[in-house]
Amino acid sequence: MSSYIIEGGKKLQGETYVSGSKNASLPIMAATILNKGISKLYNVPNIHDTQMMIEILKNLGCKVKRNGNKLIIDSSKVNNYEIPENLMREMRSSVIIAGSILGRYKKASFSYPGGCDIGARPIDLHIKGFEKIGIKTQEEHGRINCFADEIIGDEINLDFPSVGATENIILASILQKGVTTIVNAAMEPEIEDLQKFLNRMGAKVEGAGSNIIKITGVQQLKDVSYNIMPDRIEAGTILCATAITGGKIKLKQINPIHIAPILDKLREAGCSFEIKKDIINFEAPKRLNAVDIRTTPYPGFPTDMQAIFASLLCVASGTSVIVENIFENRFKYTQELQRMGAKIKIEGRTAIIKGSRKLYGAEVKATDLRGGASLVLAGLVAKGKTKIEDIKYILRGYEKLDEKLNSLGANIKII
Ligand code: UD1
Repeated sequence: MSSYIIEGGKKLQGETYVSGSKNASLPIMAATILNKGISKLYNVPNIHDTQMMIEILKNLGCKVKRNGNKLIIDSSKVNNYEIPENLMREMRSSVIIAGSILGRYKKASFSYPGGCDIGARPIDLHIKGFEKIGIKTQEEHGRINCFADEIIGDEINLDFPSVGATENIILASILQKGVTTIVNAAMEPEIEDLQKFLNRMGAKVEGAGSNIIKITGVQQLKDVSYNIMPDRIEAGTILCATAITGGKIKLKQINPIHIAPILDKLREAGCSFEIKKDIINFEAPKRLNAVDIRTTPYPGFPTDMQAIFASLLCVASGTSVIVENIFENRFKYTQELQRMGAKIKIEGRTAIIKGSRKLYGAEVKATDLRGGASLVLAGLVAKGKTKIEDIKYILRGYEKLDEKLNSLGANIKII
């Protein structure tokens, strides 16, 4: 099992770039099976989660070639509609491919994603959405079997703007009869990227980025080339890593609109920056200010940045309060931060963080992707050496995080 060893105390300086978005790549890769042809995808991050999606696509009968960040997916000979249990377990977000399989085959079989380290991951909203457009679902021995004679558009009101449910319903509706309207849809930028990809492939999707999305069924799709959007959470992570070390960097390949909710909080914490197109020049103050955070669906502050910001606030001046409104159990990483001297108290969905001047190197364990990244940040500022075990969670979602931070002056080694 791999670990990071981080020697703390180095200010980050210099320039680096943001890779393609994990959360945009996964549904777009899934969407390729809707077309009986070839999709070329550029800027796909080379990480564990996209590799798992490649395995799923291959298992369904796609031919996939990877060349660095470029993928060529040939889905002309898809011959399977069942996602195997072991691949579902490897990546819970693999449920996102169900909508595409249904769109192509009108049947799909997959296992229940179950709970994970940040809480239960129910899929009731996905299932309700499927049923509304004519897909029957049956649960049998932990597997969900879906089938439809015809997928017919309808209006779907989501009880909560779930990102995955919105994407899955869009994907299932692409080749349907009629029109599906999703009301209270998730507004995340990754859904806009999915819409752009689908429309370039010949689909008819409107409204992504707003809370009403309309999908008009089409009969046929065409081959497509597409460049994936930058990863807004990776951008936020690198900026926060700079902020925690009191550094100054230039970060390229950002989308300033997508990271605006993160930048607002960094500004409140005392950071300054200048944006030119897709480049940000970013500088941290000597000491960060405490800030309060409430995670909400986009365009609010993203839950995926919650743990990462918590590390910053551990060394800020004053007391900060974080309220986690999206996932029920997303504070597990705070126990590890406490081992490094962080003063954090958890009360239900709220974390109260008393900023202190120092964190101390310790042996800690990553328990999930973003919680793992928060430990990396703490390690960068801690006095002495930090060992982070189980970095497989971090490698799931970040492309070359250690290399990029090292190029800015950090001292991170993998053992
Ligand atoms: C996606 C992102 C993840 C991010 C999350 C919220 C991907 C691959 N993952 O996850 O990084 O943290 O959005 O921005 O894009 N819920 C239900 N029933 C459902 C579906 C969801 O109750 O059927 C609940 C979840 O338990 C959770 C909340 O809704 O509490 C948000 O989940 P959702 O937006 O669906 O997140 P994901 O799509 O799983």
